[in-house]
Amino acid sequence: MRILGIETSCDETAVAVIDVTGSRARPRVRVLANIVASQVKLHAKYGGVVPHLAKREHQHNLVSALLMALKEAKLQNPKSEIRNPKQIQNPKFKILNSILAREPDLFARMVPRIAEFPPPKIDAIAVTVGPGLAPALWVGVNFGRALAYLWGKPLIPVNHLEGHVYTNLLPANWKMPNAKFQISDFEFPALCLIVSGGHTELVLMRRYGDYRVLGETLDDAAGEAFDKVAKMLGLGFPGGPVVSRLAERGNPQAIPFPRPMLRANDFNFSFSGLKTAVLYKIHDRGNRATKFGAREKADVAASFEQAVADVLVAKTVRAARQHRVKTVMIGGGVAANKRLRAQLGIALQQQYASAQYLVPSPQLTGDNALMIALAGWFSRNKKSAWRSIQADANLRLDG
Ligand code: KG4
Ligand code: ZN
Repeated sequence: MRILGIETSCDETAVAVIDVTGSRARPRVRVLANIVASQVKLHAKYGGVVPHLAKREHQHNLVSALLMALKEAKLQNPKSEIRNPKQIQNPKFKILNSILAREPDLFARMVPRIAEFPPPKIDAIAVTVGPGLAPALWVGVNFGRALAYLWGKPLIPVNHLEGHVYTNLLPANWKMPNAKFQISDFEFPALCLIVSGGHTELVLMRRYGDYRVLGETLDDAAGEAFDKVAKMLGLGFPGGPVVSRLAERGNPQAIPFPRPMLRANDFNFSFSGLKTAVLYKIHDRGNRATKFGAREKADVAASFEQAVADVLVAKTVRAARQHRVKTVMIGGGVAANKRLRAQLGIALQQQYASAQYLVPSPQLTGDNALMIALAGWFSRNKKSAWRSIQADANLRLDG
């Protein structure tokens, strides 16, 4: 089965194509294309992702990302552009226009370049329907609907967070062009710590597609806390990579930041108090006119990162033991964090060594469409006609 994946939930415009053979228990995957067009430089100017700009950029980038993906997958040779788009059969033109009524730029780019292609050899289109920024999500969803209509293909709605979970099924050292792989062997129940810019959740996976959210953040997500601390330290956006690079040079024990909810008897998180503690620390230094140089900044970064890692690791290990899981995974942008990955591995080894520990390839912790295509393959029974698919900004894994 060959699946085209589309992802536009935040600030990456991504399109991928995978080919899956074998059984559900032992699938073999070939990645034919994995294109990610990042908008990060644009949003960095504003210190965070601006939804209407994300929508504009997705409209600009989706068609070229699709054409690049199809070319890389050797699925299509683009024909020359149509001079007069209205030459396209009239009823098709009208329906495409109505599907993309709220994305006129995308419509204008799509019609001359794609509308007269013969359908490529794919079996289904998987698209992220949520959670995420509504205006951004809708661009991808409506693009998926338009392609599904045009090419007569089924559409598979995918939960973005499920995509992050599935990145753990690729080998941890996976990278393009090492395109072929066998899905990692693992046993259920599995526990996944999802840590991204918008979410922090501990999810119990009992079977494919069967999720129970054991706990989640009550305020800021872990990635969001990294982004805000980076801003306070004047480090730019996105904060995770810069804070953790700086943290490598600091002392993680230098400042005793709070470990919010570490002792609470549940699996929820809260990072907003920690963020405020960092702010106070920075102000305090400033007020006392003591030097707040590179050394102090690195200590703040390292001590903050350690506080986040301590809470995430302790709660994940506790949940793993309590629910006697066989596998522990980690997914989302913050799963790129080296301290977190390493310390979770060590804590599991010391306190719950029977669990298998999976981590995603660093190439796949950020948003991408390969994970969406893969999640689409596992939930292919949800495929439906283009008319019945909608975006849902607040979609839950256990909804
Ligand atoms: O999953 P993702 O790419 O997008 C969302 O779905 O939100 O996650 C982005 C988040 C950002 O907050 C970013 O600062 C954080 O992941 N991040 C990191 C690292 N790399 C990215 N956080 C900590 N350490 C990193 N190395
Ligand atoms: Zn994400």
